[in-house]
Amino acid sequence: MNLETVDRPVVPAADRAWPPGFLWGASTSAYQIEGATTADGRGASIWDVRVHEPGRVTDGDTGDEACDHYHRYAEDVGLMRRIGLDAYRFSVSWPRVLPTGRGTVNAAGLDFYDRLIDSLLAAGIEPWLCLYHWDLPQALQELGGWENRDSAGWFADYAVLIARRFGDRVKRFATFNEPAVFTIFGYVLDWQAPGIKNRDSYLAAVHHVNLAHGAAVDVLRDLVPGAQIGAIHNRQPCRPAGSEPGDLAAAELMDLCWNQAFPEPQIRGTYPPRFAEAIERWVKAGDLARICRPTDWFGLNHYSPIYMKADPSAELGFAWTGPPPDEPQTGVGWVIDADAFRDTLAEVHRRYRLPIYVTENGYGADDRLDERGEVVDPDRIRYLDAYIGAMGEAIDGGADVRGYFVWSLLDNFEWGSGFGQRFGIVYVDYATQQRRLKASAKWYADRIRAARAVTAGR
Ligand code: FCB
Repeated sequence: MNLETVDRPVVPAADRAWPPGFLWGASTSAYQIEGATTADGRGASIWDVRVHEPGRVTDGDTGDEACDHYHRYAEDVGLMRRIGLDAYRFSVSWPRVLPTGRGTVNAAGLDFYDRLIDSLLAAGIEPWLCLYHWDLPQALQELGGWENRDSAGWFADYAVLIARRFGDRVKRFATFNEPAVFTIFGYVLDWQAPGIKNRDSYLAAVHHVNLAHGAAVDVLRDLVPGAQIGAIHNRQPCRPAGSEPGDLAAAELMDLCWNQAFPEPQIRGTYPPRFAEAIERWVKAGDLARICRPTDWFGLNHYSPIYMKADPSAELGFAWTGPPPDEPQTGVGWVIDADAFRDTLAEVHRRYRLPIYVTENGYGADDRLDERGEVVDPDRIRYLDAYIGAMGEAIDGGADVRGYFVWSLLDNFEWGSGFGQRFGIVYVDYATQQRRLKASAKWYADRIRAARAVTAGR
């Protein structure tokens, strides 16, 4: 179903004045685009291991080559410039710079990010550096990974390396991308690396990732003058799939794990009561003060509401289900509900009182080149227009939203779904590595230009 029936936006994004300094960007992550997984001394991550296990990824796809961004970053920065981006969010591959996660540094890995950052700056695009987008060094996984309390120290040491090397040129740092997602998918549902289904492993990982976040905030604050530090959370309404009482309980539990387990301790200094009881065993005196360090912004990733049902046989008693069939959906079956995005922005503003950057929002589909070699993607354009319009309404309602990053710049390796799900505004032909701006990229470029013009003239 497309968006024909969705009557948005109220004020078209093109005609709206955005707050002064509002940033328009795009996001990617290291494992999803870089490829070159064995080049120049890079170590293995938990994703390198998982993708080579049979049956883990649709069609056996891997990120071994992905978009070959490691070698083609200059061309990709050129595309960003053509689109007119103000900012670009990328992640550093921890095993590229520290092949075993700690100890010996891989100079060639650091050099790559120097080249990328310098090209961005030369193009007038602000680099937004995320320390962790799910690719834990495999050597650390073998020491227990996030289940090991020492992981907070490993992460802090990695943050020291990054801060010292790039802090002269990079000022915007995110600690983690979507900690709720990689802990639930990686330790409860076994949809992602490290592929564990165990309640205790999950709870330990949650707490240690929170500690790692706090430790990294301190490092960045100490070592990078003028750093603007945040964490990125995927926040979406969790809805019961049906009317069974168990479904409601499943949705409430998912809301705790998905929406609250990280921002609450990180920003408000407490675990929500039910979660606090469950996690108590791993929490030592002083931990909440270590986790709750002042940050400068809230990174919000938002795509769609999610639907939960009870499943007593599952690790946490809940199961993820498809959306109700009558709801409008994206090309990959995610429900389209721009009002939920507006309401989520308002809620994040009310609850956390931090400037908000939308660090991911986008539309997945199985895009194809047409006979003229173009990708015409009106459904993606309608989705982005509706969601950007909803963001405008949230701003009108008082939410302090300061930037928007589309997911994603490029089609890329979409984790367990492989290359079949395309979220890019730039099409990537994986056989030739040719890039082509989709219609949505041209639309986004026009929107950015129009937004700048209206904002400058107001
Ligand atoms: C987010 C992830 C990102 C990508 C998009 C579609 O949850 O952060 O890597 O997979 O979803």
